[in-house]
Amino acid sequence: NEIRIFSPATVANVSCGFDVMGFCLDTVGDEMVIRKIDKKGIFITKIEGFDLPLETKANVAGVSALAMYDAINVDYGFEIEIYKNIKPGSGIGSSAASAVGSVFGMNELIGRPYNKTQLTEFAIKGEALASKCEHADNLAPALFGGFTLVKSVSPLKVLELPTPKDLYATIIHPQIEIKTSESRGLLPKQIDLSDAITQWANLGSFVHALHTSDYALIQSALKDVIVEPYRSKLIPLFTEAKSAALDAGALGCGISGSGPSIFSLSKGLDVANNVKASLENVYMDLVIDYDIHVSKI
Ligand code: HSE
Repeated sequence: NEIRIFSPATVANVSCGFDVMGFCLDTVGDEMVIRKIDKKGIFITKIEGFDLPLETKANVAGVSALAMYDAINVDYGFEIEIYKNIKPGSGIGSSAASAVGSVFGMNELIGRPYNKTQLTEFAIKGEALASKCEHADNLAPALFGGFTLVKSVSPLKVLELPTPKDLYATIIHPQIEIKTSESRGLLPKQIDLSDAITQWANLGSFVHALHTSDYALIQSALKDVIVEPYRSKLIPLFTEAKSAALDAGALGCGISGSGPSIFSLSKGLDVANNVKASLENVYMDLVIDYDIHVSKI
């Protein structure tokens, strides 16, 4: 009647795939306990780690749980405990981890009536509370693992993409908070056709590179000419960090989700660790703190 789960952090956008591409990090995530109880309803009984609302309708885990609860129509309820490690506003899918964790746990406790796509649909309701927009680029990799591409939100279609075997991510999180809703507010409503052409050529090439383990193609495709120019201004030392990562051998480097975290992809663990050391050098003298991780994708 109770399950304890790990709900992973995720990197969305992956430079050229704004709102559609994402990958899962296996070394960072939240823990949650979901418990079946006699009383009807969804109750968040404990949150540790960060100060977030306990009220079900004001909490992303609660909102996604309610979306599923309305669909299952049962005479019992659920309690949710959240042990958050992923800082809200850090750009590595903090809200998605909460939104996914509650519905994944509930589904396990009631005999798995829903598949991962259906769970993503419930979780979108929770994610929308945080970002004021329904997108699944963090939710899908948290549920499916590896790289995912959200082909469409309505109807929801998630594609699972292969991961080349030597691909590693280095993620640095400068400790400032950027709210997704504000970071989305900076973006233009219209873009140049020439930029759009560059971006979709890169996204198509990146997907092809994942399928063919073509690291040189990953390197040339991992660029963002549309969103990064607007959002990078919010991140202290972004330009320096990106240069340092590329100089250390990263295949590419960009903003993780809506920032401030910065991700790099590298071929091999040694390069990913060199990238980590170079990024630490950039942020070492800065007054703000940072967290940094290397993860196999
Ligand atoms: N695709 C989203 C964005 C991810 O960049 O705004 C953050 O939730």
